[in-house]
Amino acid sequence: MCGIVGYIGSRQAYPVIIKGLKRLEYRGYDSSGVALIEGNQLKVFKKKGKVAELEEEVVDKNLSAHIGIGHTRWATHGEPSDRNAHPHTSNSGNLAMIHNGIIENYVPIKNDLLKKGYKFHSDTDTEVLLNFIEDIQKNNECTLEQALRIALKRIVGAYCILLIDKNEPDTIIAARKGSPLVIGIGKGEHFLASDASPIIEYTKEVVYVNDYEIAIVKADELILKNLGNEKQTPFITKLDMELAAIEKGGYDHFMLKEINEQPDTIFDCLRGRLLAHNGQINLSGVDNHIDILKNAQRIVMVACGTSWHAGLVAEYLFEELCRIPVEVEYASEFRYRNPIINKGDIIIAISQSGETADTLVALENAKEKGAFIFGVVNAVGSSIARLSHAGAYTHSGPEIGVASTKAFTGQLTVLSMIALKIAHAKGTISEARYMELIKELEAIPEKVKEILKDTTNIQRIAEKYKDAKDFLFLGRGYNFPVALEGALKLKEVSYIHAEGYPAAEMKHGPIALVDELLPVVFVATKDRYYDKIVSNVQEIKARKGQVIAVATVHDSVIPTMANDTMFVPDADEVIAPLLSVVPLQLLSYYVGIAKGLDVDKPRNLAKSVTVE
Ligand code: G6P
Repeated sequence: MCGIVGYIGSRQAYPVIIKGLKRLEYRGYDSSGVALIEGNQLKVFKKKGKVAELEEEVVDKNLSAHIGIGHTRWATHGEPSDRNAHPHTSNSGNLAMIHNGIIENYVPIKNDLLKKGYKFHSDTDTEVLLNFIEDIQKNNECTLEQALRIALKRIVGAYCILLIDKNEPDTIIAARKGSPLVIGIGKGEHFLASDASPIIEYTKEVVYVNDYEIAIVKADELILKNLGNEKQTPFITKLDMELAAIEKGGYDHFMLKEINEQPDTIFDCLRGRLLAHNGQINLSGVDNHIDILKNAQRIVMVACGTSWHAGLVAEYLFEELCRIPVEVEYASEFRYRNPIINKGDIIIAISQSGETADTLVALENAKEKGAFIFGVVNAVGSSIARLSHAGAYTHSGPEIGVASTKAFTGQLTVLSMIALKIAHAKGTISEARYMELIKELEAIPEKVKEILKDTTNIQRIAEKYKDAKDFLFLGRGYNFPVALEGALKLKEVSYIHAEGYPAAEMKHGPIALVDELLPVVFVATKDRYYDKIVSNVQEIKARKGQVIAVATVHDSVIPTMANDTMFVPDADEVIAPLLSVVPLQLLSYYVGIAKGLDVDKPRNLAKSVTVE
C-alpha cells in the first residue's frame, strides 16, 4: 500500500523519483506527489490521480534539486484528493514527509496538537505524525533525528517514512516498522524505495532496512540506528533482478505479459530443483528441516487473496499426498482470534509480495507461540521471507500487474514440490506415483505454452459475455479453489460481480441466481469428479444458464453441453490447477480489455496491502 521513493546525490532528483513512482504505482494510485529541496527552498507538488497527472501538473515548474522524496498513495485516512496527497509539510514549513502505513493512535495526538494551536490541512494520520515530530523537536530543542526517535516510540501502527528538512538539505531520514524500505547504494548517491524496482537501473547493491530501524541517509553516507540510538551494521545484499523483468517488453499490459511468462516462470521455479530423470527434488528449505516437516501434526496455511487460493489447492495436495491435516486461514482472521498453536504445528505462509500486513502479523504472533514458519514467497528478501524459519522462493520474478497471475502458478509449483518431498520422506506416496507426479510437473511449462499459443477463442468468449452483470464459477476438488481464483480475477479486473463455489454446493443457494442471463463457468477437467460435474452442468443447462467450460482437450462430452469451451491439455488432477487457471486469467484479462478498463491498475486495489 503506497509506494515511496527518495533520492540524494549528484543527479537531478525529480526524474529518478518520478520514474520510481511509476514503477511503484502498483502499490496505489489514488494520488502522488514529490517534495524537493533546492538551496533552502522546499518545493512540494502533489496531485490526485495517477503519477501521469502529477507529471502534467509540474510541466512548467522549476524541479531542479539533488534531494527529494516522492509518494504514490493508496488512501486509508482521508479520501483521494490533492490535499490528502503526500508529501505533507509541517506547520513551520520546514519539514516534509511521506508515509506508507497507518498510525493507529493519531486521534489523541491530533487533539493534543490542535490544543497547542497546530493547524491541519489534510485528513491524514501522516500530517499528524509529522507535526508531532516537529512539536517534539521544538519542545526538546533536539535534532530532527532525536525528535523522530521519541515520536516513533510513542506511536502505535505501521510505517515506512521518509522525512526531509529544508534546513538540512543534505539528509533524508527514513524509518520503518511493518512497511518495507530498501536503500540502494550508489557511488556518492543513495536511492530509497518501497521495493527494489525503482533502484535496479542505478545499482544492484541494496540494504533492506529492518523494523524499528532509522536510516540517516546522505549522498555519501548511510547510517543505520535502532530506536535506542545504537548504530547497526548495514547488511548489503546484491539484487538478483534485471531491468527487463520490470518492463512491459512489447506487451500492452503487465497482466498479459505476466500470464504469458508462465511457461518460463514455472520452468524457472522447477529449474535445478526438480530433477525428473532421477526422481530428486532439491529444496534446501525442506531438506534442512525435513524431520520437523514430516512429523508435522498439522499444517496451517496462512495467506490473503490469490495466495489464500493457492493455500486451498495445497490443502488438497498435502492431505492427499502427505496425510497431514491442513487448515487454510485468512491471515486477517487468524491473527485476531487467538488461534490454538500446538507443538508440531507448521505454518506455511504464502505471499507474493512478502509484505502483506495481515500475513506478516499473523506470522509474528504464531512465531511467538512457538510455531515453525515456512515461507512460500516471491519477493526475495521481503519481510515474510526474513521472518520465516525456512522457505522456498517461487522465483516468478517481479509481478507488477495488480491482479496476481504468474505468482499464483509459482506458488502452486512450489507447494506441489514441497508436498511431494514430504510425502516421499514420510512414505505416504508410492515410488511409482511419486515418479509419475514428478514427470507431470516437469511437463507443465510446455502444457501452459499450448494454452497460450492461440487465445482467439478466449477473446471471443470475453467479448460475448462482457456485459453480463454477474458470473458464477464452479469447480470440484482441486478445481474448486481454481473456481474461486477465476471469480476473484474477473472481479478484480472487470468489476463484474462474480462468485466462486464448489459445484455441488451451488444447489444450496446460488442455483437460485441461474437464468438465461447468467454465465456459469465450470472448471470441468478430466478428474475423479468428472461424472459428477457433468451432472452439475446439466443442472445449470436445465435452468437455461449460459455454460462456459474449461475442459480437457479431446473431451467429447462437456463441449457438446457447454455454450462455449476453453480447452487445456490433459494433466494429473493433483497438478491440473496449474493449467485450468490459465484460461480463467486470460478470460478476465480480455473481459477487462473489452470493457476498456485499466487491467494493470484496477480501481481501489493495490498490489501490496501493507495496512490491515
Ligand atoms: C492484494 C493483491 C492480491 C494478492 C493479495 C495477497 O490483494 O491485489 O493480488 O493476492 O494482496 O498478497 P500477497 O503479496 O501476500 O500474496
